[in-house]
Amino acid sequence: MTYSGKLRLGVNIDHVATVRNARGGDTPDPLRAARIAQECGADGITAHLREDRRHISDADIEGLMEILTIPLNFEMAATDEMQAIALRHKPHAVCIVPEKREERTTEGGLEVAREENKLAHFIAPLRDAGCRVSIFIAADLRQIEAAHRIGAQVVELHSGAYCDAHHEGRFEDRDRELAALREMSAVAHGLGLEVHVGHGLTYETVQPVAAFPEPVELNIGHFLIGEAIFRGLEPAMLEMRRLMDEARGIT
Ligand code: PXP
Repeated sequence: MTYSGKLRLGVNIDHVATVRNARGGDTPDPLRAARIAQECGADGITAHLREDRRHISDADIEGLMEILTIPLNFEMAATDEMQAIALRHKPHAVCIVPEKREERTTEGGLEVAREENKLAHFIAPLRDAGCRVSIFIAADLRQIEAAHRIGAQVVELHSGAYCDAHHEGRFEDRDRELAALREMSAVAHGLGLEVHVGHGLTYETVQPVAAFPEPVELNIGHFLIGEAIFRGLEPAMLEMRRLMDEARGIT
């Protein structure tokens, strides 16, 4: 199998804002993180404006739209409020994610199959406004087919179950989850969907996913921002980049 070129690295800066908000001031500034990531080779910046604004704020999104020369992937729930914000800013991409107030992070993929009509209507104006519409889903055939039917251009496959199983030492589960991600990447690509993968990826888990031929982008946040505490954002990112390239046979 020949691997299809360099993978894009999307850097999720939500957790710079999480740390800032823990004290309620201005630092650390997620825009500064976005600038550094942009300068040292990130292919995109991802930010999730949650309904409860627990990390990224409306002002952060405005600032990102102003300073970024690389694409912004605006993560949002399928609500009228978020749709209006996305239509005002028209980011390069919107990634529709499920959102529950009580969750610590985005725990599962979106239930597209059950909400097909509603989501088709929800994403149409975003597509018309020129945003690439990505749907964050589990590696599940029903969800992929539904995402295709509603007119999404991209699916982001949720790698959280694979990563959790790896880090908890449940290796049979890990291998099953990895096989599902591999198979569903191929299925989504076969339907003409652009494939992204994200959630929970670390230096230990990134390479088996990066070695799949179909994904064009990985979105990585929590681990990178954590690693940046110890070695700085640029070296943390460059190591992730190196591992992704190595998995694709790029030296
Ligand atoms: N992709 C999506 C759709 C997400 O919701 C998240 C988490 O906000 C990520 C990628 C990044 O996940 P992590 O922060 O675990 O790397």
